[in-house]
This record gives sequence, C-alpha cells and structure tokens, in this order.
Amino acid sequence: MKRVKVCLLGFGGIARSHLKAYHKLTERNAPVDLVAICDIDPSQFTKGVSMNLGGSGAESLEAYHLYTDAEEMIRNEQPDVVDICLPSFLHCEYAIKMMKMGCNVLSEKPMALSSAQCAEMISVAKETGKYLMVGQCLRFEPAYNFLKDRLSDGSFGPIHYAHFDRLSALPLWGFEQWFRDSERSGGCILDMHIHDVDMVRYLFGEPKSVSAVTTGYECQWQVVNSRFEYENGTLIVADGSWDEARSSKFYAGYRVRFADAEVFYDDSTVTVRPNDGEEYVADLPKSTRMADEIECLALTVLGVSTDQRISATEAAKTVALVEKLRESAAHNGTPIRI
Ligand SMILES: NC(=O)c1ccc[n+]([C@@H]2O[C@H](COP(=O)([O-])OP(=O)(O)OC[C@H]3O[C@@H](n4cnc5c(N)ncnc54)[C@H](O)[C@@H]3O)[C@@H](O)[C@H]2O)c1
Repeated sequence: MKRVKVCLLGFGGIARSHLKAYHKLTERNAPVDLVAICDIDPSQFTKGVSMNLGGSGAESLEAYHLYTDAEEMIRNEQPDVVDICLPSFLHCEYAIKMMKMGCNVLSEKPMALSSAQCAEMISVAKETGKYLMVGQCLRFEPAYNFLKDRLSDGSFGPIHYAHFDRLSALPLWGFEQWFRDSERSGGCILDMHIHDVDMVRYLFGEPKSVSAVTTGYECQWQVVNSRFEYENGTLIVADGSWDEARSSKFYAGYRVRFADAEVFYDDSTVTVRPNDGEEYVADLPKSTRMADEIECLALTVLGVSTDQRISATEAAKTVALVEKLRESAAHNGTPIRI
C-alpha cells in the first residue's frame, strides 16, 4: 500500500501527544510516516512542556527534518498531509495556505474561531480537492463510544438525561499566552468545552434549543454551563471551566441516565449501574484516540476509508453550536432555537 507522508506544524503542548501517536502508528504498521516538524520558536525542539493533560520532557527529534518556516517545510518535503497543531487563531490561515500548497490537512480543534472562517476553509477544501479534517479526538475515545454504542443498540433503553464535565486550571503553557486572550483562543467555551459540545452533537444529534451562562476572571468565557434540549424531552447539561485551582488535575467525566441503567465516567473508568443487577466496570480498550484520528485521515487520503467522523463539515457545525451558546450567554441564558 502507498504510504502517507506527514509534516507536523507547531510543536507546542498538544504536538507532543501527536508525536506519541505517530510512534504508536509505526508500532501498528500503519501506512503513515512523519517526516518533518516545524515551529516558529526553535527552542520548542529542545525543551519539554507541562500542560493540563500532563507533562512531557524534551523529545528526541533526530528522525525528523526540523524547520522554523512552514512554507519552506512544505516546499522541501512535499507532504501528503500537514498536521496543524498551531494556536487556534492560526488554524484558518494555515489550513487554507497548506491546502493551496497542495496538502491535505488535519487541524487541531477548534476548527477555527468562527463559522465564517470554517466556511472559508471548507470552500478552499472544495476548490483545491484536498481533505480537511479536524481533531475532534473524543470521537475516537472508547469511554464516549461506549455511550454511542449503547444509544445505537438500545441495550440500556432510551436516554433521559446526561451531564458532561471538563475542568482545568487556566492553560499557561501556550505561545505568547494565547489561551488567556479570548480574542485568540475563544476562551474555555470554544477551546475545551467544545469537546463536550461536539460530543453532544455526535451522540444525540442537533438539539432543538440551547442555552448557556458563562463568566470569566482571567479571560472571557472562562467558565460555562450549557444546556441542550431535545424534541423528545432529553436534557443534556455540560460544564466547562478554566478556573480550577492551579494544584488541581485536569478532569473530564460524565454521568448518563438511560431508562434501564446509569453510566458514569470519572476520567479513567466507565461504571454501569443497572436498575436491576450489580454495578460493573465496562471492559474497554485502552484509548489511542490521537493515533486513531491520524490513521483515519491517512486511510481517507489513501482512499481506503470513508469514515467521516471528523470531517470539516461536522467540526464546523460544532463551532456553529458554540456560537449559539455564546449568543444565549450574551442574553443571560435565554434559550436559542436551533
Ligand atoms: N485535542 C485536544 O484535546 C487538544 C488539547 C490541547 C490543545 N489542543 C489544541 O491544539 C492547538 C495547539 O495547542 P497547544 O496547547 O499545543 O498550544 P501551544 O501554544 O503550546 O503550541 C503552539 C505552537 O505553535 C508554534 N507556532 C506559533 N505560530 C507559529 C507559526 N506561524 N509557525 C510555526 N509554529 C508556530 C508555537 O511556537 C507553539 O510551539 C490549539 O488549537 C488547541 O486548542 C487540542
């Protein structure tokens, strides 16, 4: 099988997880080769990063060509795919530039800062005939796909209610402190809460209406409480925060009430509590979500996969739903019809 040649653009916090994913793909014999890495700040190549998802020491990058200029990297390497791990305010500009230079693109989430930027990116993908996918990686997370599978096989009965959490201290590791500048990051609601907004759409479809309240101390939209209402009466609530104590660990979890069972996730274990019967821990595979999303794009580029789970159209709809939540928050939590 032909192999897919990848260049990684941006080598800050999340790029370290992508690097590990490429190592995993090599172990799996997946047809993907990371060949080069670019960061505007060369000191990133020799130091570690400490982020909310955990720390990593300096990486060994001998196997890769290193660049500080994205266009020079593309001209020299001629990759099939550029994996964009840049700050969110650069996603639109660089995804468009890379597609126009002939590359398929995997961009980190959020797809972009606004629906208008997402539309521009999708239009360039169509014009250039390039694949554009967005790293809404939770769509490859076993703990969340466990819910997806139960919703589709109906084994726990219909859904009544769900609550999702994603909590962290304000990120301080980023390039020029871009996370705390809500003009450049979109605040917690667009940067981190978007994972749960995307999951709500992935699991339950488009809601009939949404509402949200937010507050902020060190940036706008730093803390958010969102509600998603459905025609059949299902109510979904999600909390996102970048205002946890600096000593606290990142936390993501859910509790979901089906008619016949409750399901809990506490960032490590999925526990099922049936109405009748003993509580048990779900037997799930170890998460390899980053490797899975990269492999998904590679196999799509090779024409082997038609998995559209992380397509740009899907990711753009999630950005649009975040905009509706912000609209509600700007009107003191008034429900907005979708
Ligand atoms: N999927 C997830 O769970 C997840 C988790 C964390 C972050 N993210 C997303 O990943 C993206 C990056 O976040 P991060 O934490 O790695 O940020 P970061 O600031 O740590 O890393 C960004 C890197 O890009 C480099 N850079 C900036 N401008 C550049 C340019 N023009 N050319 C080349 N390099 C440039 C910076 O020097 C920095 O090293 C964000 O969009 C963020 O929302 C996703």
